[in-house]
Amino acid sequence: MRILSGVQSSGKLHIGNYYGAIREFVRLQEEGEALYFIANLHALNSVRDGKLARRLTLETAAAFIALGVDPQRAALFRQSDVPEIPELNWVLGTVVPMADLENAHSYKDKLARGASPDFGLFAYPVLMAADILLYDTDVVPVGRDQKQHLELTRDWAGKFNRQYGGQVFKLPKERIRDETAVIPGRDGQKMSKTYNNTIDLFGTDKEVEKQVKSVLTDSTPPEAAKPVDQQPLYALLKLALSESDFAVIDARWRAAGGEPKSHGYGAFKQALLEAFHGTFDPARARYAELMADQAELERLLTAGAQKARAHAAPVMARVRLAVGL
Ligand code: TYM
Repeated sequence: MRILSGVQSSGKLHIGNYYGAIREFVRLQEEGEALYFIANLHALNSVRDGKLARRLTLETAAAFIALGVDPQRAALFRQSDVPEIPELNWVLGTVVPMADLENAHSYKDKLARGASPDFGLFAYPVLMAADILLYDTDVVPVGRDQKQHLELTRDWAGKFNRQYGGQVFKLPKERIRDETAVIPGRDGQKMSKTYNNTIDLFGTDKEVEKQVKSVLTDSTPPEAAKPVDQQPLYALLKLALSESDFAVIDARWRAAGGEPKSHGYGAFKQALLEAFHGTFDPARARYAELMADQAELERLLTAGAQKARAHAAPVMARVRLAVGL
């Protein structure tokens, strides 16, 4: 089984990226041949400062490794180190209907929010399809926000195969876990940099505390039973705590007449903060070490790109033969 996924290097990674995607990357690297990459070409749509883009690329690489992606086991690489990507992006684009791109959620959402989109944003799903199709990928672990991109990828791969009369591309499947398909942000919407509602994996202790303390709650008094639906704090506790720790918190959450000190939202936020540190502090320390040796990160990424290009070569040869390049 060949597994592929990517994360944009467009800003700080948050716990939505971890629980929605990266945790699954780590599990899946044990089950097949995994390719994971830093989508630094996609990130150019939002990061328009070369120095910053370079730093964010390395930060994203360090985050992958710190969180458990093993560069010996998986191919970990930068999208921009694989020149076959822009080549396939072009070839694939010649069979992509404009209407598909006009109807893509990500593009329509940006339009609705008043952005005036550039070509890069419009064409973003084609580049993502090229990322996926280039390696004969079987499985793509992602959060639900990427589902439509996978559907488009299959549509275009099928169309290309029919057009060129053969099995040029393998049709990939998304892997989306129901429990972690949409991690809520501090305000209850999907956690996203764009909505400024994240809890950042590698923020300073102070920043993380501030973020956790600002998770939206309602005005239920501390001693009263709390509602569980549509409550980001409750959902985040369920994700971050072990099953047995969560059972204790859950009982308190639902109890009426509890001790205000241990049953108020403040206490639950403290529990979330402790779970965050318990889960991520080892990765946070490792991240700092990795960022202190950027030459080593560069070396790992270069080796990862070589592995990725070896997988890309036969697919690109089929594409060139099929279209007559
Ligand atoms: P990106 O960088 O926005 O997000 C990386 C991964 O994190 C998941 N994710 C979430 N999952 C659940 N709840 C959330 N709140 C949440 N926020 C983020 C995303 O679903 C994603 O899996 N277009 C992609 C990057 C990409 C890619 C690819 C992915 C480029 N080429 C090829 C897979 C295959 C993106 O912007 O993800």
